[in-house]
Amino acid sequence: MDQFIIEGGKPIKGTVKISGSKNAALPILIATLLTDEACVIENVPVLLRDIRTTFQLLESLGKGIEVRGSRVTVKPKASLKTHAPYDLVKQMRASVLVAGPLLARFGVVRVPIPGGCSIGLRPIDIHLDGFKALGARELVDQGDIILSSRELAPGRVHLKFPSVGATENLMMAAAALEGETIIENAAREPEIEDLGRFLTALGAKVKGVGRSTVYIRGKSVLHGARYSVIADRLEAGTFMIAAAATQGRVDLIGAKPEHLKDTIAKLRACGVKVKTGIREISVVSDGHTIKPVSIKTGPYPGFSTDLQALWMSLMCLADGESEIEETIFENRFLHAAELLRMGASISVHGSHARVLGVKNLIGAPIMASDIRGGAALLVAALSAQGKSVLQRVYHIDRGYEKIEDKLAGLGASIQRVNDSRKLPSNS
Ligand code: UD1
Repeated sequence: MDQFIIEGGKPIKGTVKISGSKNAALPILIATLLTDEACVIENVPVLLRDIRTTFQLLESLGKGIEVRGSRVTVKPKASLKTHAPYDLVKQMRASVLVAGPLLARFGVVRVPIPGGCSIGLRPIDIHLDGFKALGARELVDQGDIILSSRELAPGRVHLKFPSVGATENLMMAAAALEGETIIENAAREPEIEDLGRFLTALGAKVKGVGRSTVYIRGKSVLHGARYSVIADRLEAGTFMIAAAATQGRVDLIGAKPEHLKDTIAKLRACGVKVKTGIREISVVSDGHTIKPVSIKTGPYPGFSTDLQALWMSLMCLADGESEIEETIFENRFLHAAELLRMGASISVHGSHARVLGVKNLIGAPIMASDIRGGAALLVAALSAQGKSVLQRVYHIDRGYEKIEDKLAGLGASIQRVNDSRKLPSNS
């Protein structure tokens, strides 16, 4: 298992290129199951563990994958299968997104029910209710959910909560159904918009993405397409907060300011200077005191739950007290206990955390337990006085491409070492 050794207390300075979005690339790669023609997807963060898992998933279902740099070609290789293997689903919950395209194309799909994870129970009832509204029946067998329908039909689906995954799953199913499907109370994240553009490139007609009601006019036969994935707003947000926490100055290339409006506004409220161009963001924090700013997470365009942990690391260094409320996941404060080991002052009550800023954090042995919580601890370690050893960096590797190289390029002192212990099977 790899770990990071970090000598903290150095501001990060320089320019960093933001990779393609993991959360956009995952559904787009899976949407290639909708066509028997080749698709070429550019700007894919191919080094990420979750993207590698997605390649294995597509290969297990009958697709061939070619990778050249960040360009991925997905081609048909064998007849498509309709049963996703448990080994892959348990590694990555987003595997459940194969249900929509396969059910709509073949009338049946068998997907292992993904278990909970460290941040919450994460049921898939909203996905299933959506498929049922389009005419599917469900059966549970041996931990798998089997969805089937003689004729899945386009229709109107109202989501009880704007789930990102359920919106994507239903959009993909709708793209393969002749006629119009309407998804009400849809998620509005930029990754949904990106999927909508990809489905349009495949030949479906998609309107309303980025708003609460999405209209999809599908086709039973979709064609191949070439498409480039948007930049990763969560990686960009991570570097912005890292620059602020280390009193640094960083230019982010490729990042889209309109996808980070709330994070930019909150950083500015902290007293951090943020300048924006069309495809770049500059963050300057040297010599500034961080003012405490409270946040409450919410579905997009609210403050991203994925950046909540990072915000907590920053607030540990603020000049005063702030409150953090997590409204999306029931258990997304695991990083707080590790931050306490670094000298932070945090109290957690259910979905609320109260953070009293300290003069500085102190390096310590710490452990990541999810992607963003791990990144938050990394940011804390970069800002802390002294050495930190961050364990279980495989969580961070699921969502950040070569993060240690990018940070070292910005002047951070960070080294990856292997402590040769065994990787646990369930992450
Ligand atoms: C996606 C993102 C993740 C982000 C999250 C919220 C990917 C690969 N992951 O996850 O980084 O943190 O959106 O922005 O894109 N829920 C149900 N029933 C369902 C579906 C969801 O109760 O059927 C609940 C979840 O348990 C959670 C909340 O709704 O509490 C949000 O989940 P959802 O929006 O579906 O997140 P994901 O698509 O899993």
